Amino acid sequence: MKTVTTSAPGRVNLIGEHTDYNGGYVLPMTIPQRTVVELKATGGGRATLRSGNLPEHKAVFSYELGREARAGAWADYVQGVTKLLAGEGYILGGFEALVNSTVPIGSGLSSSAALEVAMMRALREAFALDLDDLAIAKLGQRVENEFVGARVGIMDQMVSSLGGDGAALFIDTLDFSFKRVTLPADTDLVVINSGVRHSNSGGGYNTRRSECEQACGLLGVKLLREVPSTGLARVEALPEPLRRRARHVVTENQRVLDAVRAISEGDMKELGRLFVESHKSMRDDYEVSVPEIDLLVELALGESGVYGARLTGGGFGGSIVILARRGTGAAAAERITRAYAAKVPYKPVILVSGEQGADK
Ligand code: GLA
Repeated sequence: MKTVTTSAPGRVNLIGEHTDYNGGYVLPMTIPQRTVVELKATGGGRATLRSGNLPEHKAVFSYELGREARAGAWADYVQGVTKLLAGEGYILGGFEALVNSTVPIGSGLSSSAALEVAMMRALREAFALDLDDLAIAKLGQRVENEFVGARVGIMDQMVSSLGGDGAALFIDTLDFSFKRVTLPADTDLVVINSGVRHSNSGGGYNTRRSECEQACGLLGVKLLREVPSTGLARVEALPEPLRRRARHVVTENQRVLDAVRAISEGDMKELGRLFVESHKSMRDDYEVSVPEIDLLVELALGESGVYGARLTGGGFGGSIVILARRGTGAAAAERITRAYAAKVPYKPVILVSGEQGADK
């Protein structure tokens, strides 16, 4: 039987962090790094997975379809996919799949969403599944929520499945509507991985999510999205830490709207200012940054061509995104990573540097 080859990209979020599971706005874009799946239907009912990125003893995982069980391993994202697809009535047969990825694991750049989306694209093609790109994104989120145990929102899966062509996606997560937004041509986008490992299935992410739910209970709303930035007085009356958690979400939603306007007006200074405000809010109110990420942001802000910088993704490690004047990003990234590596015992990696950093 013929082998199908599919892929899906990782993402960087420009702004709108921890807003997606609160029904809010996000502005992610795909990055050039991708996960590639080569899949061959084999007949029978067994799935055999191999990762081209891991050492041999961790690289192979095999299981019987219908007997998926969480193993705390990379293969869980695939097991979740086959289990949920079957639960939705899609008929799969046995297969072998080879997975290779250039999206670094634990970088906060959605290696897991890229794997879920690439795998569903491969299964869609191999088994002629009637699945559209939004359905793939929604199922990917459910894999995380229901199988892996990470209560993530829809952002990563949506941008991996529906983004690309050098544009960011402005998503309203309340109704899944989205619009392509292109950064002005005179900007450089830089993404640097701090080397501090991020995970959504660690405790911090899910704790933040339940804090938001508690805040909703006290505010009498279903989602924090329902609280506009003019309603902050109510938020200020909440007990700590719910006050700061909710304040982050409410102000961050407004920053996404302001960022989209700044982009349409070509106002990069304003967009940079919003990046910095977003970072401070994640650091002080949402408390999802770490000292190494703060150091990277601080070093970035010391660069004359830089408009703004912030932690991107779920946090507790991961990567930063920098917005810089065109032609200045690559050299700034070199200086920032050199200064960082001289101060901390982590190895930073520049993943994107240059003209809009886009996946063109
Ligand atoms: C992770 C999740 C997303 C989103 C971000 C934070 O990337 O997968 O759904 O919540 O964190 O903005």
